Amino acid sequence: MKIRIAPSILSADFANLAPQVHLLEAGGADYLHLDVMDGKFVPNLTFGPPVVKSLRRVTGLPFDVHLMVQEPEHFLEPFTDAGADILTVHAEVCPHLYRVVQSIKGLGLRAGVALNPATPLHVMEYVLDQVDLVLLMTVNPGWGGQAFIQQVCRKIEKMRRMIDDSGFKVELEVDGGINLSTIESVVAAGADSLVIGSALFKGADLAGMVREYRKTAEKVCCIHRRKVDEF
Ligand code: DX5
Ligand code: ZN
Repeated sequence: MKIRIAPSILSADFANLAPQVHLLEAGGADYLHLDVMDGKFVPNLTFGPPVVKSLRRVTGLPFDVHLMVQEPEHFLEPFTDAGADILTVHAEVCPHLYRVVQSIKGLGLRAGVALNPATPLHVMEYVLDQVDLVLLMTVNPGWGGQAFIQQVCRKIEKMRRMIDDSGFKVELEVDGGINLSTIESVVAAGADSLVIGSALFKGADLAGMVREYRKTAEKVCCIHRRKVDEF
């Protein structure tokens, strides 16, 4: 199975979303990564369920909704109704992480847990059997276009081992600063899914950029003999 490419629309032209989403789809994107920020957990604000609902009408791509919000439990239903397929919450804002994960699954969605670069992996230990996806942040969340934090590669490797040793089917996604210079290290370290924002939207040919990133990821998998699970 191939590495999944999850374009983040954070760097898109928000006045022109539908045509850009169609180009991402034409390029073979696997998910649409939607970054929801509340101005509290992270210092930036983005969008809420109405935007997701409108996008739902223009694409069949699975929606990978990254909730960078405090008290995410209040937003699970609104984003489910808006058309989310994966809901990812940050462990840092969930004192009752197990319960939140259960609620997401109870709504019939895939449940993800995100960790900031400095958050240790052990918070995943006792929920790993419940989650569908672990999102390791390779920047501190808040903006697109930030520099990749190289130290997280060790963490990706460690998480990869944790997942493989557990035998559970958990997708390992990485987010932040992924570009043609950093893609090799994250894929080699064990990431299954790549969130890519500014690097994709920099180019004039959005669909071609998605294809280029997929080709590069597959080449790295081949060189490092990495097998990627199907989810
Ligand atoms: C950052 C967001 C990312 C962001 C990635 O807080 O979670 O999804 O869009 O953007 P780049 O790829 O530009 O770092
Ligand atoms: Zn994100």
